[in-house]
Amino acid sequence: MNRILIYYSSEGHTRLVAEKISEMLGCDVFELQLVKPYPTKGFLKFYYGGRDSVFHFSRAFNKPFPDLSNYEVVLLATPIWAGTVSAPMYSYLKKASFLQKDLYLIATCSGGDVSKCFSTIKKIKTDGHTRGEISFVNPTEATLQQDIERLKAFSSAVLSNDSFQ
Ligand SMILES: Cc1cc2nc3c(=O)[nH]c(=O)nc-3n(C[C@H](O)[C@H](O)[C@H](O)COP(=O)(O)O)c2cc1C
Repeated sequence: MNRILIYYSSEGHTRLVAEKISEMLGCDVFELQLVKPYPTKGFLKFYYGGRDSVFHFSRAFNKPFPDLSNYEVVLLATPIWAGTVSAPMYSYLKKASFLQKDLYLIATCSGGDVSKCFSTIKKIKTDGHTRGEISFVNPTEATLQQDIERLKAFSSAVLSNDSFQ
């Protein structure tokens, strides 16, 4: 089964998880990158990212999206912005088609609720079939090491195409 992990990360937490999980799965990985990245500091970081997530504004990406025709399983990883899916991931999801794909959702946050992010993705991607969800609070190398059993359980579910909650 061919798998790809597609992620957006502004400050590196989601990138770390994406790299760790894709390594464990031995799958392809694609980072969604913006032509004009969001600020990563101060008030503006929350202002622009929060505004765009709430109002679903999009920004241009700096490279074409991957062709998903050869993949049966797609993993999507995003930070939570303003209680929901980050604006860049939302804007990718509106353009991508996951027809007949199995989806696994990965979210990072700073401790807030992730359920709205997952339900929003499922609502806009009714063409895909969500098999599992996992979330992490501002993951670092150290916290991912502490979380290794959960990561292993998630990866093993993905590899056997099982559901995971
Ligand atoms: C614009 C913005 C809005 C955010 N809103 C939330 C939120 O509503 N709840 C939460 O738990 N974390 C929120 N965060 C924190 C991020 O989800 C969290 O730090 C995440 O790990 C960042 O991932 P990244 O380093 O891959 O960008 C927000 C961060 C930004 C930049």
